[in-house]
Amino acid sequence: MQNYKITLLKGDGIGPEIVDQAVKVLDRAADKFGFTVTYDEALLGGCAIDATGVPLPDETVAKCKASDSVILGAVGGPKWDNQPGNNRPEAGLLGIRGALGLFANLRPSVIFGPLKSASPIKDDIIGDNMDIMIVRELTGGIYFGERGRGDDCAWDTEKYSVAEVERIARVAFDLAMKRNKKLTSVDKANVLESSRLWRETVIRLSAEYPEVELNHMYVDNCAMQLVRNPKQFDVIVTSNIFGDILSDEASMIAGSIGMLASASLSGGKLGLYEPIHGSAPDIAGLGIANPLATILSVAMMLRYSLAQPEAAQAIEDAVSEVLKTNRTPDIYEEGMNKVSCEQMGDLVCQML
Ligand code: IPM
Ligand code: MG
Repeated sequence: MQNYKITLLKGDGIGPEIVDQAVKVLDRAADKFGFTVTYDEALLGGCAIDATGVPLPDETVAKCKASDSVILGAVGGPKWDNQPGNNRPEAGLLGIRGALGLFANLRPSVIFGPLKSASPIKDDIIGDNMDIMIVRELTGGIYFGERGRGDDCAWDTEKYSVAEVERIARVAFDLAMKRNKKLTSVDKANVLESSRLWRETVIRLSAEYPEVELNHMYVDNCAMQLVRNPKQFDVIVTSNIFGDILSDEASMIAGSIGMLASASLSGGKLGLYEPIHGSAPDIAGLGIANPLATILSVAMMLRYSLAQPEAAQAIEDAVSEVLKTNRTPDIYEEGMNKVSCEQMGDLVCQML
């Protein structure tokens, strides 16, 4: 029987509670689809700072590298807000992305039918099946460029090489081929030299994908178009910082940031899977967090890293079904059963 080794980085705040539910669902899927999973835990973020003094201990990187994939909860919280610049929990997150070479971040923004009314955007604008895939470059650009401080100034550098743009664009073109064959490349080529290189490179690569309809959009226009007419998008490919901002915006259009999953891929099998929301320290330990984004991240892991597409689909279907009548407080609506984090995990398992 196929066995997968998964490293759990539960992290801070609600991280541990949501990861526990995701593990439960993964175990249930393993039973049903005939594979096994063994787990190892490692520290990342604030909990790692508390235990070892640094947000990303070497041992964590080693454990992740030795596994088939990684599930991450969330990192950060007010407790570590006053840590000096590079010793914050977030530095651990950037560090693990870099150390594992996770250059491609997939952030799907999909509407779950029963949650349509949770979107702040009007029904007719969202349509019935909004499904946008944001492909965010994750190990380059201003997040990893040279930075510094002078006496009364500070700087961060946006720099991209042709090879970095090509490899992320290739991921996006390949995804577009499997979806509706439409790709929007987002940049700021009217101002930034790095964006002009980005655009030229994407255009050059497009010759290899004649079936994909490619268009280019400035990031400010894209931010506006996402709320004006989200239906026009299929796959969006963009830089690290633009992808950070646009994916938060797109998540809200889909109703709740508590619902959205993500995959960070390295080009090989190893991936890191995490909800796109944060550690929500204000509700940590209350048992009311929404575990669905993490559960849906497990579905993405089964699809992109573990080659178990049926199990992935079954989890996504189970989540849709459960949502028809059950809600955690963040997505609660009149007439539904209000359930806890743990009950939500149990319901998805039962539906599976
Ligand atoms: C994200 C987060 C991170 C980012 C932070 C926590 C460093 O906002 O994953 O989108 O900016 O990449
Ligand atoms: Mg972000």
